[in-house]
Amino acid sequence: MSSQENPEENLPSEQDKAHGTELAKSPFADPGLPPHEHRIQDVDERAAKRSERVVAFLFTLSMLATVAFIASFVAFPVGKIVYIWPFGHVSALNFSLGLTLGLALFCIGAGAVHWGRTLMSDEEMVDERHDIEASPEVKAQVLADFKQGAKESAFGRRKLIRNSMFGALALVPLSGVVLLRDLGPLPEKKLRTTIWAKGKRLVNMNTDQPLRASDIAVGSLTFAKPEGLEEHDEDFQKEIAKAALMLVRIQPDEIKDKRELDWSHQGIVAYSKICTHVGCPISLYEQQTHHVLCPCHQSTFDLSDGARVIFGPAGHALPQLRIGVSSEGYLEALGDFDEPVGPAFWERG
Ligand code: FES
Repeated sequence: MSSQENPEENLPSEQDKAHGTELAKSPFADPGLPPHEHRIQDVDERAAKRSERVVAFLFTLSMLATVAFIASFVAFPVGKIVYIWPFGHVSALNFSLGLTLGLALFCIGAGAVHWGRTLMSDEEMVDERHDIEASPEVKAQVLADFKQGAKESAFGRRKLIRNSMFGALALVPLSGVVLLRDLGPLPEKKLRTTIWAKGKRLVNMNTDQPLRASDIAVGSLTFAKPEGLEEHDEDFQKEIAKAALMLVRIQPDEIKDKRELDWSHQGIVAYSKICTHVGCPISLYEQQTHHVLCPCHQSTFDLSDGARVIFGPAGHALPQLRIGVSSEGYLEALGDFDEPVGPAFWERG
């Protein structure tokens, strides 16, 4: 006989009814917790001690790796290349820094994980759902739980772990501090001064010959560098970027600025060739007006009036070099520039 023939077979049993009632109350019935299984460290103090030693070993290894990181930074020169299988030829410094810092961080993580998995309490906790805002009783309970957790983690009792972890955490940031050294030495006064000094002769940039006053014709523009600075010098570019000079000769009665006249020699004036806007070399001279033009953003300076800015974005006049003539008749500096050359960055300092 089919179920269609016997309708009673389709009726729910008593058990189905009970289950249906349960589901109607809560579609996600609490499955309960499986029985707690104790770890070996929970029941065997010797195993717990072994875990403690492993954790302390990892933290100690982290400290040693940090020390090795610093030692590598000091010991290996930047250009040293070594062969390391299977990487091939690599920079000894980069390889050692990466290896030691990686090991230091890994050991801290591994130590913390091992500590948590083997020694901290792993008792299952049941936390009933509750309103988002905690009641004073719950807050008190949380505080009590926290204290209980701290106690069970043995943070205070296992001093070896605690102290070695503090040591590892304290040393790791040193890696970052050491790397700050790569920002280079402080510039000190290097950017404020040039190699011009009293008695240094002015040398023609094109002919490499010391200049005499008679070499500078009215209306001409001559570029000069300090005597002793050669193109093959290691720091040539660094020094010439500050010391490059341009010389023009103006009829003394056309010089409007008194200090400019005092710092010139028979109308020959020497100014920094570095634009005070963003440092381009100035190269265009208009002899009728005595204006020089920077080709980058068209700042224009009047060389007959203290090289003040008459047009463009430059913030201040070109620095003038005080010059004179040596006993042999050569043009020479009477000191360094009395202000930093180049962009107006210095005005913010
Ligand atoms: S660098 Fe000379 S005007 Fe900008």
